[in-house]
Amino acid sequence: MLSQEQNEAVTRVGAGTPMGELFRLYWIPFYPGADLPPDGQPKRVKLLGEDLVAFRDSDGRPGLVANACPHRGAPMIFGRNEECGIRCVYHGWKFDVTGAPVDMPAEPANSRLMEKVRLKAYPCRERNGVIWTYMGPDLDNPPRLPEFEWNLVPAENVYISYRVQECNWLQALEGEIDSAHAPILHGRIDNQGAINDWIAKKDLRPKFECLRQPFGVSIAARRAAGADNFYWRVNQFLLPYWTLVPPQAKFPELSGHAWIPMDDENTLCLMFSYTPVEPLYPRTRELMETGHKGRETGQASRDCYAPKPPTTPYADYWTKFTPENGYRFDYASQRDAWFSGVPGLWVQDAACQSLMPIYDRTQENLSATDAGIVMTRRVLLKCAADYRDQGQRPAGVDDPQNFLVRAISVHLPRQSAWVEASAPFMKASLGADFGYAL
Ligand code: FES
Ligand SMILES: [Fe+2]
Repeated sequence: MLSQEQNEAVTRVGAGTPMGELFRLYWIPFYPGADLPPDGQPKRVKLLGEDLVAFRDSDGRPGLVANACPHRGAPMIFGRNEECGIRCVYHGWKFDVTGAPVDMPAEPANSRLMEKVRLKAYPCRERNGVIWTYMGPDLDNPPRLPEFEWNLVPAENVYISYRVQECNWLQALEGEIDSAHAPILHGRIDNQGAINDWIAKKDLRPKFECLRQPFGVSIAARRAAGADNFYWRVNQFLLPYWTLVPPQAKFPELSGHAWIPMDDENTLCLMFSYTPVEPLYPRTRELMETGHKGRETGQASRDCYAPKPPTTPYADYWTKFTPENGYRFDYASQRDAWFSGVPGLWVQDAACQSLMPIYDRTQENLSATDAGIVMTRRVLLKCAADYRDQGQRPAGVDDPQNFLVRAISVHLPRQSAWVEASAPFMKASLGADFGYAL
């Protein structure tokens, strides 16, 4: 349970809020490069409560600028993206990707306005198909891009998707560090007999242990595995909004999310799935792209989108599973298909997380399986307070290698200490395989 004050502090993301300022220290992977062609239609973006527009200029440079024109505030989303700049359609002022004005067609020739005016712009970098931006305190001297393994492996090893979820970022994040829900919420009961048989077959009571790490928190769930071993699944939380999920024998890819706050009540969910050494199986890629028998996997399939008008932030990544239509919950399917009655993996998570835009955590009753959530909130609040009160930046902000981390799923002898035994597997060594058998 959090106090009202703590809940406010950990959920709000606008400029000047403790979390908002913490988030602004980090690069944000805010747009898929392929969806932003040169001289193509500008796209509305919203990040940390700021109204923005993304575009790619004629030379291929991505830009992220304020949606409000500095002349008299017309929406830049209507801008003409042409000849290396975006031109406001109201009076034709034109700006390059750095926000510098390059043309003011209605101004007298001797006007000094060109020297004074700027369109607010954030620096962008593109790596392996993802455009990152930095909205931090020193825009001219951002840290180096974080080295996430998913963003460094060859293109054939990775699959990513974006979708919008209608809830506060922390609700979405908390779902992925709480692995106790996975066998329950995501359970399939078709072909597995009656519901009680199904429940009896599962080890639904893992023991949780959490470990504060330089990058965030490791959340280990221990389950019995025969007489001699434990099966350890370790999810990772990486500051400020990253989660990593371990591979399984049947699904030997690593995956995870960035839960990027668009504002206090909407989250841009970037999911990545990758294999460190081999290309993804074609069948795996196909399932992610198209879903499984019409149902969503962890990835947002290309058929799940229900685009909104272009003036809506992230218009192309809203989906047809919404709070309004109950996430297409179907009571009848609880009996013969899904434990939850909600069709598809990520949809089940979204349905459980989005009843209200910002959950009131003074009302919750945390259980033993919520240990990772408790520690993660504590770390977030502490880092935000340390930065606000002492200007102290979290360890990883200025160290790109901080992010070279893997989630793991290992069988270890019962007597071995999981922290020491699993530490080598948690390091993401580029080009190296897991180091253990799945
Ligand atoms: S409001 Fe944009 S040019 Fe006038
Ligand atoms: Fe889940």
